[in-house]
Amino acid sequence: MSEARRDVRAYDEVLAHLGEANSRALIATPALVCDLGLLHTNIERMAHLAGDAGVTLRPHVKSHKSVFIAEQQLRAGAVGLSFAKLGEAEVVVDRLHADGHDEVSVLLTSPLVGRHSAERAAVLAAQCDLIVVVDHCDGVDELEAAAMAHETTISVLCDVDVGLGRTGVVGAAQALAVVERVHAATRLRFKGVQGYGGHLQHIAGREHRREATIDSTKRLSAVIDALDSAGVAVAIRSGGGTGTLGLDLEIGVLNELQPGSYVFMDREYRDALGEDPEGRFAQSLTLLTSVISVNHEDYVTVDAGLKSMATDAGVPSVLGHEPKATYEFFGDEQGMVIYPGHSFRRGERLELVPPHCDPTVDRYDVVWLVHDDVVVDVLDVTARGRSQ
Ligand SMILES: Cc1ncc(COP(=O)(O)O)c(C=O)c1O
Repeated sequence: MSEARRDVRAYDEVLAHLGEANSRALIATPALVCDLGLLHTNIERMAHLAGDAGVTLRPHVKSHKSVFIAEQQLRAGAVGLSFAKLGEAEVVVDRLHADGHDEVSVLLTSPLVGRHSAERAAVLAAQCDLIVVVDHCDGVDELEAAAMAHETTISVLCDVDVGLGRTGVVGAAQALAVVERVHAATRLRFKGVQGYGGHLQHIAGREHRREATIDSTKRLSAVIDALDSAGVAVAIRSGGGTGTLGLDLEIGVLNELQPGSYVFMDREYRDALGEDPEGRFAQSLTLLTSVISVNHEDYVTVDAGLKSMATDAGVPSVLGHEPKATYEFFGDEQGMVIYPGHSFRRGERLELVPPHCDPTVDRYDVVWLVHDDVVVDVLDVTARGRSQ
């Protein structure tokens, strides 16, 4: 249970009835609930897919921000964990340490900038096996200086822009310059490359996604080939997300996958992936909401509005009532569920499929773990808000 929520009575009440029939009805809404069985199925399925293909799995913690889920992923065979931000990694590594995980392998998938961040990375490197992506020679120098000051070593991957344009070296010449600088450093170890195609993940239609992924992977291959020709060993080739999973395995350039959303899934992925193999992860996460007003014929008002979910990917779907029922935002605190001739009752609970899981989870202190109508546990969104 999150420290910040211990004083909220509604939370205490659910905790007092954990494991009891109908305890789910006690959860104050809006709230995130996760079906524990479906969560486990997703974790196991991904572990098997990666294992069968002979690639390592380094799931991205940015989706769930939870120590509990990170532990499940490690237990299922993940080689380590991926994190977007230092702050996420710091708090999760601390907690994993406390739970007896001594040498977790941690990849920071976003380049760091500045002396202070490099110093924090060096401190973190004393607690885990740390790998940081770099995409600029100055970033290499900052990490080297911090690692020297803290008498530690840090592993690095060269981040390669595979077409997203967000971070990463653009082309082989920049990659060679960065890698040369890493080799000149005494406290840094070059381990390989990262190429994450964020722009590919939600392309609807597997053939379109495949073509775009093949194209994008060529950019990574060009860099790997150039490093190879220069005699540089590229041990780790990390990247990939839930949407390109099967395609990355088919193409075979990546030897380490870092998917995140598959643990929960969301409406945006459901729409894009449909019946594709990548879409065959269960919708384990839903947003529980209550009907608070029923005085109109064609719609009801629910207590989940703009503040209850990330809105970048549009509206949620109404689980079990698609396509008849549709949701519309109805202000900061409320939503409208339109369903002509509906029979929704005041006080009835509906489940929404969040439009985009990662930034929605970051809005909650806890996620309730459920099995049917029973709350079986509560998980802390440990790294909530740790985006620094
Ligand atoms: C660098 C990086 N790797 C992996 C992922 C995981 O992707 P997904 O959540 O689509 O599986 C993300 C998500 O944004 C990412 O930014």
